[in-house]
Amino acid sequence: MNPENNAIVKSSRKGEYEQAELFQGSYRAHRLMRYLVFLLPVILVSVLVFTACREREEDEDEDLIEFGMGHLLDNAELQAFGEKLFFDSNLSTPSGQACATCHGPEAGWSGPDSEINAKGAVYEGAVKGRFSDRKPPSAAYATYSPVFNAMLEEGELLFVGGNFWDGRATGYLLGNAAADQAQQPFLNPVEQNISDEKEVVKKVLQSDYSDLYHKIAADIWNIDDISACEDLNMQFGIIGLALAAFEHSDKVNAFTSKYDYYLRGKVRLTPQEEKGMDLFRNKGLCAECHPMDVLEDGTPPLFTDFTYDNLGMPANPDNPWYTMDKSFNSEGSEYRDPGLGGFLKQLPHYAMFAEESLGMHRVPTLRNVDKRPSPHFVKSYGHNGYFKSLEEIVHFYNTRDVLPLAGEVDDPRPGINCWPEPEIAQNINLDELGDLELTDEEEDAIVAFMKTLSDGYELPDN
Ligand code: HEC
Ligand code: HEC
Repeated sequence: MNPENNAIVKSSRKGEYEQAELFQGSYRAHRLMRYLVFLLPVILVSVLVFTACREREEDEDEDLIEFGMGHLLDNAELQAFGEKLFFDSNLSTPSGQACATCHGPEAGWSGPDSEINAKGAVYEGAVKGRFSDRKPPSAAYATYSPVFNAMLEEGELLFVGGNFWDGRATGYLLGNAAADQAQQPFLNPVEQNISDEKEVVKKVLQSDYSDLYHKIAADIWNIDDISACEDLNMQFGIIGLALAAFEHSDKVNAFTSKYDYYLRGKVRLTPQEEKGMDLFRNKGLCAECHPMDVLEDGTPPLFTDFTYDNLGMPANPDNPWYTMDKSFNSEGSEYRDPGLGGFLKQLPHYAMFAEESLGMHRVPTLRNVDKRPSPHFVKSYGHNGYFKSLEEIVHFYNTRDVLPLAGEVDDPRPGINCWPEPEIAQNINLDELGDLELTDEEEDAIVAFMKTLSDGYELPDN
């Protein structure tokens, strides 16, 4: 990302601290309110950007309110256009790859290929032989991630928000992290590989749903002819926002899991699920980072607080990135995913926090974490997909600091008599996981609870 493009990059660290100090107190509880305050300037900036091609000049003040991000992402026309974009496999070079290729609804909007998940867990781009370094997270519930920001909690600077495992889709450009995110796969040479923004716009204008593009530009932005609009930021911006709007729609952010119905009093949990729910909140400490309560504004729980942590997860030795061409991965098999630290290094005003953020990844939502098209379909977990089942990852949380490292035992069997070395041994969270003293039954109960988080639950008749 080019920091110069960031409309609201803060010029001084002092400013950030002051901003953060305004909101001292219980961070996790009052999160959303704070986000709204941080979001406001971003929304205003993006509204200004989006007035460039508009014909009408009057009623500017009203438009500022009308074009607020919430309003846009809830716009049904924009959502419908975004849905077309999401599933369009012509939007790659060569054609053949859509967003859905790596984010299948049947797999909870994450990697839809069981064989890939079972091994490297990383998906091939439109160009054969090109892989990125990470596992596709779910594209659902990502629209709720606040614009990337930092705040002070108990004297420590805490990074929050953004999209991608490392937060580099900040939301600084379009006012929403998922909207910024949605522009990137098209241009990424290891993903959809389209040469530039102009080419993406051209492909969309040539699609069989281009009428939607025209209509939205006219209805929402008052642009007579989007194909004649000479502002490429505008043309490409609408595409990013439309994808985010689709991701924000009921089709993606469905909130139809068993747990949602339980919260609404429509179904009971089994005794095991109920026990898991209690462990998830209390003994297992899961809800510390994957909050499970309805938010203050009534939004159902998102199972992420959008903060960053290094859990000390092992590297995934099957990751095809390790053997990628040196022009993509100059470090070869020595590569270690720097996560948030790698991103912060590129931001002059946050670079001083890069070292202490190495190996941290954004807390993913646990909604749909078990959603799979068939019982034997394998899903992978963690930023590199090292874990292949919920049982394994819960066992890791429980015993990371109890079992010895693989190098310390003769016959290493990960998860049984050891755990492999962490991918990055710095900045590991030693407070909230590692030795939870859960019994086998308790681990199973937590897994059973996570299985209640899959959307599309059908309520029993009666
Ligand atoms: C080749 C596979 C691939 C394709 C195609 C792809 N993605 Fe992704 N997606 C990924 C990977 C891998 C990540 C994580 C990358 C990272 O963190 O660096 C990701 C991350 C995301 C996220 C971030 C979720 C979060 O919570 O931070 C969203 C949202 C998303 N993709 C949506 C999309 C959209 C929209 C498209 C189409 C424009 C798309 N993806 C195309 C693989 C893919
Ligand atoms: C300190 C914060 C924290 C706590 C506590 C925590 N998690 Fe996580 N969780 C994370 C982060 C960060 C990741 C991503 C780490 C990575 O990929 O390197 C993650 C990833 C996961 C994933 C993988 C999801 C995916 O889509 O890949 C699962 C499943 C999970 N956590 C379940 C749990 C459970 C169950 C507990 C309680 C036993 C728990 N977490 C406690 C922060 C936390």
